[in-house]
Amino acid sequence: MSSDPSRDPAVARDLPALRETLNAFRAAGESVALVPTMGALHDGHLALVREARRRGKRVAVSIFVNPTQFAPHEDFDSYPRTWDSDLAKLAAEKVDLIWNPGVKTMYPDGFASRIVTEGPAVADLEDRFRPHFFGGVATVVGKLFIQCRPDVAVFGEKDYQQLRVVTRMARDLDLGVDVVGLATVRENDGLAMSSRNVYLTPAQRAVAPVLHRTMQDTATRLRAGEDVAAVVAAGGTRITEAGFALDYFEARHAETLQPVTSLQDGPVRLLVAARIGATRLIDNIGV
Ligand code: PAJ
Repeated sequence: MSSDPSRDPAVARDLPALRETLNAFRAAGESVALVPTMGALHDGHLALVREARRRGKRVAVSIFVNPTQFAPHEDFDSYPRTWDSDLAKLAAEKVDLIWNPGVKTMYPDGFASRIVTEGPAVADLEDRFRPHFFGGVATVVGKLFIQCRPDVAVFGEKDYQQLRVVTRMARDLDLGVDVVGLATVRENDGLAMSSRNVYLTPAQRAVAPVLHRTMQDTATRLRAGEDVAAVVAAGGTRITEAGFALDYFEARHAETLQPVTSLQDGPVRLLVAARIGATRLIDNIGV
């Protein structure tokens, strides 16, 4: 296939460059759909880009490995950074704009303001194991929304609690962004695609689909009327016996993320987080 250089995405690395490109879109009356990412792009990210293409005249993708959502012991330094392949993938998707700020652009010297989130951000799920996480996510996504003023922003259900937090924040703070959630893209054996899957050894990779299989089987048993607490406990045991250290395996209300004791309590979502070796994986499905 021949490439057309005139279609390569504009790359902005500072705010004046970002504004110049976005102002040109706005002046032409074009809507903007934003896909926030940390790079290391895989087919899950590209599904979000394609959804953005359907929802906006112009597609912007941000690539920024956000230090404030990593704890000191987490993988900020080793997080995969794959700029050349990310750029090639986004060019192939005909993305219009890549927003790729440096850390000092996002967090200038003296940075002292943050967005604080409650509700779905304090559901005793990810927040229990990564207490700093949603403060960092909400602040950076809030900044991205203010910087880019997109009409639509597309997020993956893969990070389900994050999707709920960002949706709530956009509504609460009148950010004027329509937050759209997209179904998780999976490998053939059910493992949710993740930038962190590259950390898995072949042996760990072979075990990893147990997360999705267990959620599917748990959902089937719940729909058949079995007791929530008992079935979820059995699922947790299965994940642990497969070799994972379980952070949580829970049935929650799909909107509020509050605990449920029966399917009558509303739409139910199963959410899991578990560690294998040094790698922490998360996943979820609807029941
Ligand atoms: P990142 O992990 O790069 O994910 C970017 C977006 O891709 C998120 O909305 C995430 O839910 C989505 N995504 C990841 N894996 C997916 C899959 N298998 N199927 C569908 N969507 C998937 O999430 C973040 O970055 C950051 O927290 C961010 C929102 C960019 C803030 O820093």
